[in-house]
Amino acid sequence: MDWPRGLDGLCYGGDYNPEQWPEEVWDDDVLLMREAGVNLVTVGVFSWARLEPREGEYDFAWLDTVLGKLHAGGIAVNLATPTASPPPWFTLAHPDALNVRPDGVRQVHGSRDTYDVTAPAYREASRRIAAALAERYAGHPALAMWHVHNEYGSTSFSEHAERAFRTWLEAKYETLDALNTAWWGSFWSQHYGEWDQVLAPRATQYLANPAHELDFKRFTSDAMLDHYKEQRDLLREANPEVPVTTNLVFGQWVPVDPWKWAAEVDLVAFDSYPSAPDERAEQQSAFHADLSRSWAGGGDWLLMEQAAAAVHSKDGAVAKTPGRMARHSMIHISRGSKGAMFFQWRAGRGGAEQWHSALVPHAGKNTRMFREVVEFGNTLPGIAHTTAEPVEADVAILWSPESWWATAAAHLPAPVDYLENAAQIHRVLRERGVVADFASPEGDLSKYATVIAPTTYVLSRAAAENLRWFTAGGGRLVASYLTGAVDEHCQVWLDGYLGGLTDLFGVRVTEHLPQPAGERRALWNFGAAERFCELVELRGAQCVTQYATGDLIEGQPAVTVNPFGEGEAWYVSCKLGDDAWDRLFEELELTGPGGPGLDVVDRGEWRFIVNHTEQEAQVGHVIVPAGSWAVDKRPR
Ligand code: GAL
Repeated sequence: MDWPRGLDGLCYGGDYNPEQWPEEVWDDDVLLMREAGVNLVTVGVFSWARLEPREGEYDFAWLDTVLGKLHAGGIAVNLATPTASPPPWFTLAHPDALNVRPDGVRQVHGSRDTYDVTAPAYREASRRIAAALAERYAGHPALAMWHVHNEYGSTSFSEHAERAFRTWLEAKYETLDALNTAWWGSFWSQHYGEWDQVLAPRATQYLANPAHELDFKRFTSDAMLDHYKEQRDLLREANPEVPVTTNLVFGQWVPVDPWKWAAEVDLVAFDSYPSAPDERAEQQSAFHADLSRSWAGGGDWLLMEQAAAAVHSKDGAVAKTPGRMARHSMIHISRGSKGAMFFQWRAGRGGAEQWHSALVPHAGKNTRMFREVVEFGNTLPGIAHTTAEPVEADVAILWSPESWWATAAAHLPAPVDYLENAAQIHRVLRERGVVADFASPEGDLSKYATVIAPTTYVLSRAAAENLRWFTAGGGRLVASYLTGAVDEHCQVWLDGYLGGLTDLFGVRVTEHLPQPAGERRALWNFGAAERFCELVELRGAQCVTQYATGDLIEGQPAVTVNPFGEGEAWYVSCKLGDDAWDRLFEELELTGPGGPGLDVVDRGEWRFIVNHTEQEAQVGHVIVPAGSWAVDKRPR
């Protein structure tokens, strides 16, 4: 029960916000959707103020009309609960339900995402509007899926959050002694004598306690998940036939543990907004897609949002040139998405996102953009049958949300960009034509031949055992610098770091040696290291390459390998450049049929090829024109 009900092809459509438009536009919308091959739209994401204009008073007439028109047009509905944007009447009546920033400032309405999932009034209002929607629409023939909320991520440091945090901590640690020990409370006199003394990690005078911050992120993920589950359960109860999901999103501001959340949604859904202004956007899209598929356990997932054309980044809007929307969509579909959905259907005339691209641009249907939307939408039914088999990967990159969160701390052995380190490995593998999965450090690794752990700074005892078991059983483990520097409480793993796995790696790390920014340290015959190196003592491992230069490190091991059980463990004691990772993957014989600018994904008897280059590409017997894509039989 994870396929949007009633749909058996690939999903195509996006956020549809008819309440922004007069009713006469709605019929035109349905006609254009049909022309474009749209079969699923997400309705009502930000409609709370229109659905419940005053507390307890509902106006469903407009939504009845919209759903009726869509259904008559053969378009299925992914109906949202609107809780990501509470109406002004709600926030004025319940100011305590607005989120509080780390500096203690309570935010006000006027944008969106101003809510505090731990505020009782917000929880109650969320249940009420979700229940009202369930009661009215659970049996509606247009309803294919429920879309709870939108992009969970807003953190609140309010008193409500603080109270809920203490309850969460009590359940986790049981005693204050255990909490004080786990948080190393004796440092800077942070020993707590009563539960009520524990606060949310708001702005402090100087550095905060990393264990406290990490637990607060875990707590926030769980608190938001509770809010999701409360709605999911009542929607499910109203009609167990309809799958329920929410759209996950990516960012340092999002304290959501996707491994935990994926287990609670019927279909993993993800919003992909690459931020790079150049061809790295393709890399970011592939990275998002491989993560989403992996969160979904290797199975189907859905690209719930992407931009049809111009993508807004910090540096302004970047156009999608002809064919790029289709290629990005195919990156996702080939990597397991059940279709391609967008934000939003019709470009708004006003509002904060009036300049965001859309499937129907401001200039209407007679545009290059809409013609591409129509062309691509009408291609999808013809390839739906090629997406039945799973994506095949025997390499996994560890994805550790906790390492990402913990390396955001201000005080580390060196600045660590966890996201870039994971993305770098994915990027170099992709350029070598390898499609990789991601895996949780504590998840099942048994189907992989190779597992790569990029700066997996937080390594719990369970994760360390998991890696030991994987390697002993014949797996090839590759870990990069700072892996296993600390445990699940952000406490240092003593006597060599490495999550206590010094016997597995056959090395001890004895010192961290940050290098000056911009200086590269050459490795013998192996490219170069950047920014960070470690002093490594061999304890049985062989040295694969050494540092060629650098105080203290010249002549010392940079990359090592150690046989362990049936497998082997590689250790990379520095931040490698792309060239050095490429060299290492050459050594490990990790190659695949794709290459730079060329995504090739095999699924069962089918091969997907997306050519992002400006030259025609030939893969086996298939010729793919520049900037185009193809699905063909895979050579056997
Ligand atoms: C998403 C969000 C949409 C829209 C979009 C713009 O993160 O869910 O509502 O804001 O970004 O790119």
